[in-house]
Amino acid sequence: MKATVRAHPNLALVKYWGKRDDALILPHQSSLSMTLSPLSVRTTVAFGVGSADEVELNGYVAKGSERDRVLRVLDAVRAEAKGTKLGPARMVSRGDFPASAGLASSAAGFAALAVAARAAAGLPADPRAASLLSRLGSGSACRSVQGGFCEWMRGERPDGMDSYAVQRFDEKHWPELRMVVAIVSRDEKEVKSRDGMKNAVETSPYYPAWVKDAEAEVVRAREFLAKKDLQALGEMCERNAWRMHATSLAADPPLCYLMPKTLELIHSLREQRKKGVPVWFTLDAGPNPCILTDAAHELAAEAAAMACGATEVVRCVPGGDAQLLGEHLF
Ligand code: DP6
Repeated sequence: MKATVRAHPNLALVKYWGKRDDALILPHQSSLSMTLSPLSVRTTVAFGVGSADEVELNGYVAKGSERDRVLRVLDAVRAEAKGTKLGPARMVSRGDFPASAGLASSAAGFAALAVAARAAAGLPADPRAASLLSRLGSGSACRSVQGGFCEWMRGERPDGMDSYAVQRFDEKHWPELRMVVAIVSRDEKEVKSRDGMKNAVETSPYYPAWVKDAEAEVVRAREFLAKKDLQALGEMCERNAWRMHATSLAADPPLCYLMPKTLELIHSLREQRKKGVPVWFTLDAGPNPCILTDAAHELAAEAAAMACGATEVVRCVPGGDAQLLGEHLF
């Protein structure tokens, strides 16, 4: 009745930005991401312990909406395993990187939770079921159940059963690809992704164009990944990040996640490209740019980030699937 899983976060090359169903977490458009190693989150789940559910995240007892999101996933597992009376659960999760630093620690956390909860409940390993389940905690989590490059298909059904991620290429497909995460600010972001994207859906005049464009970019991203065309993928990554941010800059109230150092680094990458260094940025709902490059240029990418005032840089490679571990957190 106990299982522990390690999952990696993922970074979207084509972003998910906006829900068509807030309750079921169903997106307006498909998205595509790279799973990032060595960053990871470990989560242990046990059923049938204590008298009430207990949720501990990074050493703290989770409360409010954080706790509710975890319970939603645990409740869905209890409903699926209805033959077996699972009882109250204990869940402990630990990340090896800071939450709210612009990196999707919640994606790794909910992917690890979904896979661990299903295993602890005795349900069979099933990446599709785990992806659907993790989506209930956080949309982007459905792309962290598997490694390599995963596509979250938006789906059409109102019940969301066709809205989950599939692996397009595994982590061995393009081992030289690198994502260099540059931390220019560790401040908690003022507007969380969930609220930022809702604001864009409801008020940005650019939103319908964003949806149409992103859906088409996913198809192109797949082709560029298949051909391992770094330049085409890099250019698409930048374009898609700019377009996501443009929808929110045009929202009411406008939302700007970029900081001066973010822009400084973006401009410096442009200069590097003029010198023939293959570096392109992408940017989630925060100020920390991530630099797409290859193994031969990751140190140049790191140097560019440090020269623009990054306080820390994490060099990432394509990561693997969420995995069951033998050692538990409690
Ligand atoms: C900008 O998955 O964190 O990182 O579904 O509301 O939990 P919720 O949002 P979340 O949003 C991620 C937004 C993004 C882009 C992406 O990862 O695709």
